[in-house]
Amino acid sequence: MKKERTEHNAIGQGVRAEDALEPAALAKGVGGQEALEQGKTNPAVGVSCRRVKVRLAERSYEVLLGTEIWPAGVAELQRFSPEEEVFVVTDERVHRLYGEELTGLLEEAGYRPFTYILEAGEASKTWVNAEKILDSMLARNFSRQVPLLALGGGVVGDLAGFVAALYRRGVPFIQIPTTLLAQVDSSVGGKVAVNHPRGKNMLGTFYQPRAVWADLRTLDTLDEREWQAGLAEVLKYALLWDAGFFTFLETHAREIIARDNPPVLAAMIERCVQIKAEIVRRDERDEGLRHILNLGHTIGHALEKATGFQQYRHGEAVAIGMRAAGMLAVKLGLFSAAKLARVEKLMQEWGLPMNLSGSTVREIPEQIKLDKKVANKEVAFVLPVAIGKVTVQKGIAEEILMQVLEELAEK
Ligand SMILES: NC(=O)c1ccc[n+]([C@@H]2O[C@H](COP(=O)([O-])OP(=O)(O)OC[C@H]3O[C@@H](n4cnc5c(N)ncnc54)[C@H](O)[C@@H]3O)[C@@H](O)[C@H]2O)c1
Ligand SMILES: [Zn+2]
Repeated sequence: MKKERTEHNAIGQGVRAEDALEPAALAKGVGGQEALEQGKTNPAVGVSCRRVKVRLAERSYEVLLGTEIWPAGVAELQRFSPEEEVFVVTDERVHRLYGEELTGLLEEAGYRPFTYILEAGEASKTWVNAEKILDSMLARNFSRQVPLLALGGGVVGDLAGFVAALYRRGVPFIQIPTTLLAQVDSSVGGKVAVNHPRGKNMLGTFYQPRAVWADLRTLDTLDEREWQAGLAEVLKYALLWDAGFFTFLETHAREIIARDNPPVLAAMIERCVQIKAEIVRRDERDEGLRHILNLGHTIGHALEKATGFQQYRHGEAVAIGMRAAGMLAVKLGLFSAAKLARVEKLMQEWGLPMNLSGSTVREIPEQIKLDKKVANKEVAFVLPVAIGKVTVQKGIAEEILMQVLEELAEK
């Protein structure tokens, strides 16, 4: 698949519900069975639209996934709001690529969209921007039923969701994720937040969207690094939940990195969403099970902080963190070296970073301790015990952590 918008059709033709879950292990949904929904072909738009349900009682919603998803989503918008006005939050890059397409669809359907454009990048996820967006909504006197649509990656989704939760105590919120990370992770589950100088995501809440419209065509325009960073989170889901999915990723590793087999990509994203939906269903407010989604994140986050959030994309830091978690688990006798080698091979095939630069080694335990102080609790590492299964381990000796970090810097 090329990263030209004109070639989007390639994926549009490729994805059919029957193809999408070709491997038997995937169709059975090892691990997250209850969340598995059968895909449906939507005759209104002529191409497949798969629906994954996030089951949260009265806060339940569907993730629409496939191609030509936006028209299908817009056609259902009236379920969430009687308003004609629609507020779209996006960033300038995504706006340039997709803004007109989305607002055009909304206008055709009789809506009056208003678009708020942020600068692209993590630096936009601030309280100040939240306030500016709220000001702009209040200035237009939007009702508490105006739908707020977040068009973009995780930055836009987290910030817009935060605003949606606050505006007049909450307006209908729609996630329209356009990065791989946002489609497999941040758009599902209702965590919304802004950053504070004292820490990432320090101000936030839980606010579930009413729907998620994940159109795979938007992924064509992601650059290589962004794609790889998203793949680190994909690998995370397989490693923590689903051995069959891990095998699927191994089998299709080349097509996945090349982005040239749309049904494979659709199946991959759908499985991630199913896994996240299942974990969120069981622990919406992150009180227990949901912690396992932090696999690779304790060290990953420390690494991001130690390097001033400049050197690594989030997913890249998570990849290194996941390898470190695997090495820790091997040292503790929880995970076999052969299984770790499988994880490393997949990381290599995808070109994910796996090593640390020596200068950051010392800083990582310091950052982890700082995080611990902020959270006021013991550091817990999520460690693999098998492909598809993890455990949460507290009280890991600092020497063992240092050994692993030093090995990571050498290799
Ligand atoms: N809420 C959650 O559960 C959760 C989970 C994981 C991450 N997050 C948050 O997500 C954020 C990271 O998300 P992200 O990686 O999507 O970053 P992002 O939103 O900054 O997007 C990355 C870059 O890609 C560009 N972009 C977006 N879509 C594009 C497309 N289709 N084609 C080309 N370029 C495109 C953006 O303009 C941006 O420059 C972080 O703030 C993180 O805290 C939240
Ligand atoms: Zn992450």
